[in-house]
Amino acid sequence: MTPPALARPLPPPVAAARIGTMAPGAAPGRLIAIASGKGGVGKTWFAITLAHALARSGRAVLLFDGDLGLANVDIQLGLVPGLTPGHDLGAVLAGRTRLVDAVLRHPEGGFDILPGCSGSGALAGLDPAALDPVLAALRDAAAAYDIVLLDLGAGLEGGVRTLAAAADTLLVLATEEPTSLTDAYAVLKLHAADRPGGDARIVVNQASSPAAGARTYATLRRAALAFLQRDPPLAGVIRRDDRVREAIRRQALLLTRHPSAAAAADVDAISERLGATAAVPVR
Ligand SMILES: Nc1ncnc2c1ncn2[C@@H]1O[C@H](COP(=O)(O)OP(=O)(O)O)[C@@H](O)[C@H]1O
Ligand SMILES: [Mg+2]
Repeated sequence: MTPPALARPLPPPVAAARIGTMAPGAAPGRLIAIASGKGGVGKTWFAITLAHALARSGRAVLLFDGDLGLANVDIQLGLVPGLTPGHDLGAVLAGRTRLVDAVLRHPEGGFDILPGCSGSGALAGLDPAALDPVLAALRDAAAAYDIVLLDLGAGLEGGVRTLAAAADTLLVLATEEPTSLTDAYAVLKLHAADRPGGDARIVVNQASSPAAGARTYATLRRAALAFLQRDPPLAGVIRRDDRVREAIRRQALLLTRHPSAAAAADVDAISERLGATAAVPVR
């Protein structure tokens, strides 16, 4: 990222409480997309853990694996796609099943999942227009949920960009690595072009400390202010935590396996903040 030549101090951050665009409870089924630009920053793990946190606070949640071509929500959760034929996005796209019939329940997590098409790569080169029926089906299905989370793939090609632009709220994940920051900035830039005035918020993941996470956010915010005239609020900072890796290795949910983990508390805080800012309706 080009460091913006700003000598003057930053304006105070936009109060997250003012960002919500609708009254709590006004319309169910808000779409929240999770994007990053760069892969491996923790999108899928965060999407799963946020789905779990929101479900625990009483929301009806659908987690949609929109990582087109390299889906892995099902793998992180230990679902075996072969055992659940028809329960994936591919079957929906092929018209073999309706989206509402393709969802699986995560019994322990208390949320629903629509798996992607793991490893097939079939969706990677999808024309964005081909996503129209998926989006329509998602909006339909969303009526039965308080919140639909979209775990987006890495990269910024058509499909990811289309899904990001379609969401009511975009959560952009970044880590303190410079390449991740550059990629997160690129996502913000495309979103600003696709959705002027849209609701994009930053999540800093794998932060070495809350203060380091705040600095990462400040860097990204400075660039967004200087070059995009946008002031994306901070949705939250998640600390780097070895128990995240351990939980993923065991295909377990962090919030039940390690409820006292720092990263668990951080995701819970983000879930609560989203509720407080009307990105997530209240039951
Ligand atoms: N807060 C965290 N602390 C420690 N490791 C993390 C954290 N978040 C993610 N990771 C690590 O990053 C890896 C990639 O996560 P994943 O969710 O698959 O990323 P993405 O979906 O962005 O490609 C995980 O396997 C995990 O080891
Ligand atoms: Mg992923």
